[in-house]
Amino acid sequence: MLINKFHNENCFETMGKMNDNMIDVVLTSPFYNTNIKAGKRKTLLNTQSKRGHYDYVRYDIHCDVMSNDEYCEFTIKLFKEYNRILKKNGCVLYNISYGNENTEGMFRALNSIITQTDFTVADCIIWKKSNALPNNCSSNRLTRLTEFVFVFCRKDELKTFHSNKKIVSVRKTGQKMYENIYNIVEAKNNDGPCPFNKATYSSELCEKLLKIYAPINQDTIVYDSFMGSGTTAVACAKLGLKFIGSEISESQCVYSENRLKQVL
Ligand SMILES: C[S@@+](CC[C@H](N)C(=O)[O-])C[C@H]1O[C@@H](n2cnc3c(N)ncnc32)[C@H](O)[C@@H]1O
Repeated sequence: MLINKFHNENCFETMGKMNDNMIDVVLTSPFYNTNIKAGKRKTLLNTQSKRGHYDYVRYDIHCDVMSNDEYCEFTIKLFKEYNRILKKNGCVLYNISYGNENTEGMFRALNSIITQTDFTVADCIIWKKSNALPNNCSSNRLTRLTEFVFVFCRKDELKTFHSNKKIVSVRKTGQKMYENIYNIVEAKNNDGPCPFNKATYSSELCEKLLKIYAPINQDTIVYDSFMGSGTTAVACAKLGLKFIGSEISESQCVYSENRLKQVL
C-alpha cells in the first residue's frame, strides 16, 4: 500500500512500485545541490541556537555535494520517472533555487530537464516569503525574499494541460476569458524549525499551489519525492487529497508522521 504513507527510502524505489500514470501532481522541493557538506549529523542536531536555528548543514542524512554533472544526471533520471508515473495532463510543481555556494546548479538542472526529458516549463511562480528574516551579509546581493516554483508539463501537453482557473466570460468570437491568478504567491517561508532539516517548505504555499493545479477531490494523488518534514502531506490532508511521500531520512519520516497525526 503506497498511498497516504511516508516511505523511508530513495524516491526511485518508491516510484519503482508505482503504476504508470497514477499520480495527478508531483509537488516537491528537492535539495538544491548547494554543495554544503552534511554527514556531520551531530553538528546539525547539536547546534540549535537560542532562536531555534540550526547551523552549518541542511539535512541530517543527505550530503548536498554532487558535482553539477551528477546533479543534472540525477534530475534527468527523476523527470523520466515522473513522466512514467504522471497522469495525462499532470504537472510537476518544482521549487528550486540557486545560491552563492553553487550558482550554476539550478540553471543547469533546468536546462537538462528542458533539453533531455519530455517536460517543459509551462509557468513560473514567484513565491514571496511573508516571514523571511532580513539577512543581508553581502554588499552586492540583495536581501532575498523570493524563490521560484517551476510548473512543468509534458511538451506535447502544453496546450491541453490546464490549471483550475475558472472561465469568467466568453467573447462573441468564442474566445474564453479566465479569472486572473497572478504568478506571485505570498506564503510563510516554512512551518517552523525542524531539528532534522534546515530547508523545509511551507504548507501554506503547498495548499495555494495545489488549489491552483490539483483536482480538488478525494481521488487526487499528490507525490512528493523529497518529503522532508512532511509539509506536502500536511497540505494534502488539509485539502482532502491523497499523498505519497519518499524521504531517505528515517528521523524525518517519524517527524512527518507525528506532524500529520496532529493535523488529522
Ligand atoms: C529540501 S528538503 C525537502 C523539504 C520538505 N519539502 C519539507 O518541507 O520538509 C530535501 C529532502 O530530500 C531528501 N532526499 C535527498 N535525496 C533523496 C532521495 N534520493 N530520495 C528521497 N529523499 C531524498 C533529503 O533528506 C531532504 O530531507
